[in-house]
Amino acid sequence: MKTRGKIGGGGGLIGGCSSLGSLGLPAVFLLCIFFFFLGFFGSSLFSQQVETESSLHPKPRILSEKGYDPLPQGDSGDDFFTTIPFQILSWKPRALYFPDFATPKQCESIIKMAKVKLAPSTLALRKGETAENTKGIRTSSGMFISSSEDKTGILDLIEKKLEKATMIPRSHGESFNVLRYEIGQRYNSHYDAFNPTEYGPQKSQRIASFLLYLSDVEEGGETMFPFENGENADTNYDFRKCIGLKVKPRKGDGLLFYSLYPNGTIDPTSLHGSCAVVKGQKWVATKWLRNEEEYD
Ligand SMILES: *[C@@H]1O[C@H](CO)[C@@H](O)[C@H](O)[C@H]1NC(C)=O
Repeated sequence: MKTRGKIGGGGGLIGGCSSLGSLGLPAVFLLCIFFFFLGFFGSSLFSQQVETESSLHPKPRILSEKGYDPLPQGDSGDDFFTTIPFQILSWKPRALYFPDFATPKQCESIIKMAKVKLAPSTLALRKGETAENTKGIRTSSGMFISSSEDKTGILDLIEKKLEKATMIPRSHGESFNVLRYEIGQRYNSHYDAFNPTEYGPQKSQRIASFLLYLSDVEEGGETMFPFENGENADTNYDFRKCIGLKVKPRKGDGLLFYSLYPNGTIDPTSLHGSCAVVKGQKWVATKWLRNEEEYD
């Protein structure tokens, strides 16, 4: 955007100079310099405004390679290719990493709307558990916000993009849970899916979880999968320990992992937690995707 604006200004300069032949050369030169700078600053001012708006609401990334046209789509499909790059981090559990899922501006905006409503995070309790005897398992602060509550439209865009990446309809998602971890704060390893033998019958089950990292973390704060590829599973794993596959939070990047096998049973390697933040702060927006629209 910015570069294009500058090139446009330069083109105007050349066109303008050729029609000024009757004036003296120094005068023409000065005039040209004047208009060049006018165009230069004018275009950079303009492109800055556009940049702010477009980084909050960027257009989808469209791939339109010559000679490779999209197929005729169904009524509910798209007439263009969408590129959402991802890296497979692991097959056990099935974990995907999405670089640049959201823009830095979008992340900052989500943090801003969450900040005013933060409260200590809570846990879904198993039989026999109380808020008191589970203290210390999850020490972050957080808040819930749905895309319809977000007047900026950013969460709506994120949700639509996630829907494309997973093809799980957005109506199957819980509200965003925006979390802040400060130094020393963590989340012991746990499952996002609810085992009915521990939690009782459920209206629906969590299929997958999506974490959108809203900040970088200077040190610590990784998302960890201690049982990745079957590691550590047969040992006496201490649930507070930060081991296994560790994913370092990077602002704007997303992590998606599946808690269930395709056959619907819980994948034991989807056990995960948040390592304690050592330096800096961690902000993350979590979205849990369900197999039904209903949840408790
Ligand atoms: C479900 O799938 C997993 C992974 O393929 C397999 O280990 C497990 O035995 C299956 N469970 C049932 C009940 O089919």
